[in-house]
Amino acid sequence: MSLHQLIYYSRNTAAGDDREMLRQLRDIVAVSQANNSRDGITGALIFDKQWFVQILEGEMERIEATYNRIARDPRHGTITLVETRGIPHRQFAEWAMGGTMRTPEVQEIFLRHGIGGTLDPARLKGGAILALALDLKAYEMEKKAAIARPA
Ligand SMILES: Cc1cc2nc3c(=O)[nH]c(=O)nc-3n(C[C@H](O)[C@H](O)[C@H](O)COP(=O)(O)O)c2cc1C
Repeated sequence: MSLHQLIYYSRNTAAGDDREMLRQLRDIVAVSQANNSRDGITGALIFDKQWFVQILEGEMERIEATYNRIARDPRHGTITLVETRGIPHRQFAEWAMGGTMRTPEVQEIFLRHGIGGTLDPARLKGGAILALALDLKAYEMEKKAAIARPA
């Protein structure tokens, strides 16, 4: 067992209006969750209209196979691998693939990480992407817990 984490970013090539884009993104997340549960992969996918930033964690062989499949996907282009590193434990164990879209609702979290305007992942280092993704996960999980809590 050697757990690894891979971080990449890519350019979102999804065309169409907001609704069509959201539909495509839901498809990506649904397929990812099904495949990743099967492959023991967990992680997070952050996206806006221009970019995807994804963190994959699990066994190195499985991550590589998944990354190679993802890299061939025409729904995005110019993929840049940011980092691959060994990790002692998973940081996204709760998510087979948690998708967080950049909406005004989470803008404050992006601002806290110094991202005000267009997401420019080329300026984000692995550690900064990870910190942002962990904050977004905490937010999404709290939101889910609040919905589940009786009033
Ligand atoms: C931005 C992005 C992220 C993706 N992430 C994953 C992922 O985490 N796991 C996965 O299996 N497929 C992911 N996909 C989808 C793959 O590219 C591919 O369509 C899918 O794995 C094929 O699965 P299938 O052979 O079961 O149809 C992603 C695609 C995009 C565009």
